[in-house]
Amino acid sequence: MDDRYVSVAEPLLGDEERDNIEHVLDTGRFLQGPFVEEFEDKWADFVGTEHAIAVSNGTTALQLCLNALGLEPGDEVIVPSLTFGSTATAVVHQACVPVFADIDRELYTLDHTDLERCLTDRTEAIIPVHLYGHPAEMDEIRAFADEHGLAVVEDAAQAHGAKYKGAQVGSIGDVGCFSFYATKNITTGEGGIITTDDDELAESLRLLRSHGMANRDEHIALGYNYRMSELNAAIGSPQVDRLTEFNRRRAEISERLFTELGDLEWLRPATVRDYVDHAYFWAPFEIDTDRIGMTGKEVWEALKQRGVETRHRYTMPLYEQPVFKQHCGFNSDFPWSANENDHQYDISLPNVEEVAGNTIGLPNHPGLDEEDVDYVVEVVRNFEP
Ligand SMILES: Cc1ncc(COP(=O)(O)O)c(C=O)c1O
Repeated sequence: MDDRYVSVAEPLLGDEERDNIEHVLDTGRFLQGPFVEEFEDKWADFVGTEHAIAVSNGTTALQLCLNALGLEPGDEVIVPSLTFGSTATAVVHQACVPVFADIDRELYTLDHTDLERCLTDRTEAIIPVHLYGHPAEMDEIRAFADEHGLAVVEDAAQAHGAKYKGAQVGSIGDVGCFSFYATKNITTGEGGIITTDDDELAESLRLLRSHGMANRDEHIALGYNYRMSELNAAIGSPQVDRLTEFNRRRAEISERLFTELGDLEWLRPATVRDYVDHAYFWAPFEIDTDRIGMTGKEVWEALKQRGVETRHRYTMPLYEQPVFKQHCGFNSDFPWSANENDHQYDISLPNVEEVAGNTIGLPNHPGLDEEDVDYVVEVVRNFEP
């Protein structure tokens, strides 16, 4: 074995991204302008929605959607318990209450059979997350939402280009949110975008992202500054052109890892439904901690020492995070208060408890060559505690 170090994520930037940045610097036009517009047009085309509204990041995308959908303080939003924190903190920033649902034991995405338990007369929306790049079970989620008059906000931060039964994620719910943080399938440095077919919602989102200003003089809504800058869009626009090729390579590497490591007793490739196109943000595997005799974190550390960086998230159910544990969403004066006597988030959900801390993502980004992948296979195959 050589002594290489295989990274788990790297942005792949080319000449066009550099030239565009230089152009922004030369012109001095940083404020949302032609590059943002070009980026939005390309993304709407790619996802197949009428509108794409670029914003400062994936978290502000989520928050802006809840606002534009008209959610009121105290309204409840059902979120999965295994996801990045901001799927739920965005809900709280909107003065709404996140209600944590369990995850599907095989797919790790929102368990639609747990939705009924989470439903109250304050429920207004569901945020399914296409975790690790695998679409959530959208037919069932959509049907439940329609039955109960709930909005569906897709959190597609990790799923650029993933498809569910032929439909691009971000085009299935009322609205879709993406993140272009540096480790994602494509990047803008920092950035996000919202997709929707709803003209009125799009108009409202555009207004809210820029101070709620209808014109130079008037603030007609309580808006934010959640705009994307030209610098970010200058990087993002050529990245959109390369996404399909990036994803093809991600899938090729991930499927090779699944095949060549699929027989290990302690490491199980994640399930991929035959009706989805996985975006392979991760090449996800589940660790059998009893068989290997190590915790997920110990495996992650040991592989790193052997030159294979992996992703290792999420290590705890979201309802266990201190920020949620120490606050309460119900029966208080305000939907979000530090009420020590209320134990709203003192819950335990079986699937997420079993999975949290035990998933890792092996390196699969398009910057890897075949020798890198050979090395990953060799290290993982020969791995012992
Ligand atoms: C599932 C999920 N939702 C939301 C976000 C938030 O995106 P951002 O980091 O761009 O704010 C992320 C980011 O990593 C994410 O993975």
